[in-house]
Amino acid sequence: MKKRGFPLKMNKAEEREIERILSGLKSDPRVLKMKNFRQHGKVSTYEHCNSVMRLSYCLDKRFGSKADKETLLKGAMLHDFYLYDWHHKDNGTHDWHGFIHADRALKNAEKYFNINDRVKDVIFSHMWPLNISRIPKSREAWIVCLADKCVSLYESVFLR
Ligand SMILES: [Fe+2]
Ligand SMILES: [Fe+2]
Repeated sequence: MKKRGFPLKMNKAEEREIERILSGLKSDPRVLKMKNFRQHGKVSTYEHCNSVMRLSYCLDKRFGSKADKETLLKGAMLHDFYLYDWHHKDNGTHDWHGFIHADRALKNAEKYFNINDRVKDVIFSHMWPLNISRIPKSREAWIVCLADKCVSLYESVFLR
């Protein structure tokens, strides 16, 4: 199957570090469920989260921002863990997707995984500035918020 990710090159050591930090999480059956839902264009929510996670990792390295990698990568991988297809009009429950999905993602992440407050904040604030009052509070949350915007724009324009 064709891979639809944000174009990023990493070396073997970087790939190994990501694998080590996210071992278990990336292949967890509940996380893999995100492959069943469409995010932007032909891209699944899983592919989107994976791209945001990889770009977050690269931005942190490029900026030398010294983010806590575990917080950064887990938060990025789970930032859209809301587990539904927002394109389906489910009796109007998805009408406010842009505003509500961070809460749904956070609820699922708390239910299935033992995540700390910093990871929770990454998920909670990733839709700033749409969710205007949820200003990211940490460097990890800022990086994921920025990476999400870049990846979403790329997917919407080039992977339709
Ligand atoms: Fe999102
Ligand atoms: Fe996203």
